[in-house]
Amino acid sequence: MSGAVLVEARGLTKTYPPRNGDAQGHRAVDGIDFELGRGEAFGFLGPNGAGKASTMRRVAAISPVSGGSLRVLGMDPARDGPEIRGRIGVVPQDDCLDRELTVRENLYIYGRYFGLSKAVIRERLADLLALLEDKADEQVEALSGGMRRRLTIARSLINEPEILLLDEPTTGLDPQARHVLWDRLFRLKQEGVTLILTTHYMDEAEQLCDRLAVMDGGKIVAEGSPRELIDAHVTREVLELRFPTGEQEDASTRLRDGGVGGRVELLPDRVVVYTDDGEAALAMRTHCRSSRSPHSSAGPPSRTSSSS
Ligand SMILES: Nc1ncnc2c1ncn2[C@@H]1O[C@H](COP(=O)(O)OP(=O)(O)OP(=O)(O)O)[C@@H](O)[C@H]1O
Ligand SMILES: [Mg+2]
Repeated sequence: MSGAVLVEARGLTKTYPPRNGDAQGHRAVDGIDFELGRGEAFGFLGPNGAGKASTMRRVAAISPVSGGSLRVLGMDPARDGPEIRGRIGVVPQDDCLDRELTVRENLYIYGRYFGLSKAVIRERLADLLALLEDKADEQVEALSGGMRRRLTIARSLINEPEILLLDEPTTGLDPQARHVLWDRLFRLKQEGVTLILTTHYMDEAEQLCDRLAVMDGGKIVAEGSPRELIDAHVTREVLELRFPTGEQEDASTRLRDGGVGGRVELLPDRVVVYTDDGEAALAMRTHCRSSRSPHSSAGPPSRTSSSS
């Protein structure tokens, strides 16, 4: 870890008030520990509802923790919320822009919230508007979803934050825009900005993050550098097998029973085998088919390499 600890969570817990049939309340974040230093990029990965955003909102000092301790920039979010919020940038999962206003006006007004002078905002606008192509004077209402996302990201930078929190920053962006944003985030990191992001994309996590925490059910279930996690949890190859409709389930059972040599996952349109040796798995699949199901009409398999 480089430099001073900027965010430190110990036993961090967030329980939402009870809702239908949930007498205890819902524990969305369940006693997690993490810390990160200046200039680090830390990512939360995990399925829907894992507790990623609930964790991010605590760090952003948007609402209080239910248990454990949390320090952000050496301060207590419960007591020093305004000071923390003035020094961080937040890109929420859902864009919350002022749709009646133009791109430029949104940035300007957000800058004024931070007490920035008109001259300072004007200076920063020139740089931030580069993320928005030629849309500076368009009303937000008329922007595409991807362009609104870019504006939310540009807006989060207006106060030159020390910590930037990004909740699924590139969801909805086209590939080129994603790369523009990755580039920008990489530069910010080089300038010493600490990044905390959530993502569902392993390629994004690998590009941007020094360390990752995988969350599930409010807990951190795996942690490490992208390389460490890939080595520990991702096979070298992924074999995708397609079968005629109605035969997938039988085929996946046969593959499992026949010891195809990897985890077998049944998807609606194909069977996926995670393996370190696709050729061997493919041979085993052919063997399974001839010995256990001689009349199977399985079509020719297609094979894909995993991204690792
Ligand atoms: N304000 C809230 N009040 C009550 N429950 C909430 C609230 N916010 C989130 N939850 C619940 O907490 C759990 C975790 O939600 P959270 O938004 O943190 O997940 P996430 O990991 O960001 O998921 P996703 O990938 O879908 O964005 C979910 O069960 C969600 O319904
Ligand atoms: Mg979320």
